[in-house]
Amino acid sequence: MGHKFADIAFTPRVRALQRDQGSRDSYARMEQGADNHHRLGPREADFIAARDSFYMASVTETGWPYVQHRGGPAGFVRVLDDRHIGFADFKGNRQYISTGNFRSCDRVALIMVDYPNRARLKLLGRVRELGEGEPDQLAALAVADYGAGIERGFVIELQAFDWNCPQHLVPRYSAEELARQLDPLREENRRLRAIIAGYQRNA
Ligand SMILES: Cc1cc2nc3c(=O)[nH]c(=O)nc-3n(C[C@H](O)[C@H](O)[C@H](O)COP(=O)(O)O)c2cc1C
Repeated sequence: MGHKFADIAFTPRVRALQRDQGSRDSYARMEQGADNHHRLGPREADFIAARDSFYMASVTETGWPYVQHRGGPAGFVRVLDDRHIGFADFKGNRQYISTGNFRSCDRVALIMVDYPNRARLKLLGRVRELGEGEPDQLAALAVADYGAGIERGFVIELQAFDWNCPQHLVPRYSAEELARQLDPLREENRRLRAIIAGYQRNA
């Protein structure tokens, strides 16, 4: 009931610790009321659709957490509806750790970060692997003009999400984001240098 992320993440031991540390009362209020934080709204959908990378945790069949970085062109993570997202599994180092993990445990945790805007979204879900037997659904996850081959697709049925606070998130910019800011300044710099050179020639 209530906040679905809390429902999953606040296990009995976590709740006991919150009680010991004095934060339990405020967090207990999150667990009241109608279910929430399990359907993506426009804010979450826009945020996910703009990402060019995220971190993905799976669970090995021996119980270890395993985290991998996933990346692609911005928009490679598709919001399929308010409970499902999907992305292509590009050909990589061929260790198949995440895929192997999902075959014994379909639970997944993602963290997506927007560094320039200092925002991060945590997601919990269950993964379904898409193979060659589902060509239409796989094709829907394809990325145009991207060199990496697609080995399979992953569709995640979301169980819960939560936004993190921006604390300790240092703004960072991709080369492309920097170029958008710097290119007009470089152009202005070029024009000013040309003007100065003109004055110097005529001095
Ligand atoms: C040629 C190649 C080599 C790679 N080597 C590594 C590596 O040594 N370590 C790593 O974490 N990712 C590496 N990657 C990226 C991973 O292969 C990629 O993220 C992959 O999807 C990870 O699969 P996994 O989730 O099963 O670990 C490599 C990718 C390519 C294309």
